[in-house]
Amino acid sequence: MPDCIVITGASSGIGRSVAEAHIRRGGEVFALARRQEPLRALAALAPERVRWQGCDLTHPAMVEAAVRALAAWRPAIAGAIHCAGDFFARSISSTTPEEFTRMWQVNVFSKFLLTRALLPLLAAPAAASPRVVLYTASLAVHHDFPDESAYASAMHAILGLARTQDAELCPQGIRVAVLSPGLVRTELTERSFPPGILRNAMPPEQMAASALYQWDVIRHRGYIAELLHVHSEVRE
Ligand SMILES: NC(=O)c1ccc[n+]([C@@H]2O[C@H](COP(=O)([O-])OP(=O)(O)OC[C@H]3O[C@@H](n4cnc5c(N)ncnc54)[C@H](OP(=O)(O)O)[C@@H]3O)[C@@H](O)[C@H]2O)c1
Repeated sequence: MPDCIVITGASSGIGRSVAEAHIRRGGEVFALARRQEPLRALAALAPERVRWQGCDLTHPAMVEAAVRALAAWRPAIAGAIHCAGDFFARSISSTTPEEFTRMWQVNVFSKFLLTRALLPLLAAPAAASPRVVLYTASLAVHHDFPDESAYASAMHAILGLARTQDAELCPQGIRVAVLSPGLVRTELTERSFPPGILRNAMPPEQMAASALYQWDVIRHRGYIAELLHVHSEVRE
């Protein structure tokens, strides 16, 4: 049976590339994001193996409705790769309380909501391969970038979420880990950084290959893995 994976942020960027790569290798995808047209196009790649739902992942009722739709298709799944998220870089004084809160809602609260709702679908017999929840955090967890305190604090929270959820859910055969990309060329980075900064950005297809490698190590070899991608500007 091919792994059925819930992939968030599947309308663009990292999530879109992870979804396409998993579909190419014969896997099943339940795709989530707000924009419906790109999800419909994704499903057209393999209509029998892809389902999707337009969903704002910060809204509890929408998340619950999406998981109900998923359960009607596949009552048991291999796990989830959470790629939905947002970014902005602004100084402390120019970040409003609303913007700070929104950054945490999109990047942290949404992950809590979806994982919580998916737990019944992640239950499996004791001998089953581990189910996997992979959260996309960032290199910002490991390197201090000025003007990114709203974003970086949310990314640190993702690490805390993953580590404590992993400790809590490991006895049930559910492993929770973090992927920490450096710069990846996506809609998000193209609108946030000047072209020069993006010259060494990783193509999203490579990031997807890396995410699925991490997935496979945890799911099929049973090792918890945490991949960190450091781009050359940070190393220099
Ligand atoms: N690109 C990088 O260099 C990089 C590096 C480190 C970490 N990251 C992190 O990786 C994640 C993905 O980034 P990306 O570069 O792939 O960005 P992206 O191309 O802008 O994709 C973001 C995805 O998140 C979805 N999304 C945003 N808000 C949502 C919401 N409220 N509900 C549901 N879906 C939502 C978007 O879909 P809709 O707009 O259709 O809802 C889109 O599919 C982000 O958390 C980002 O911080 C990125």
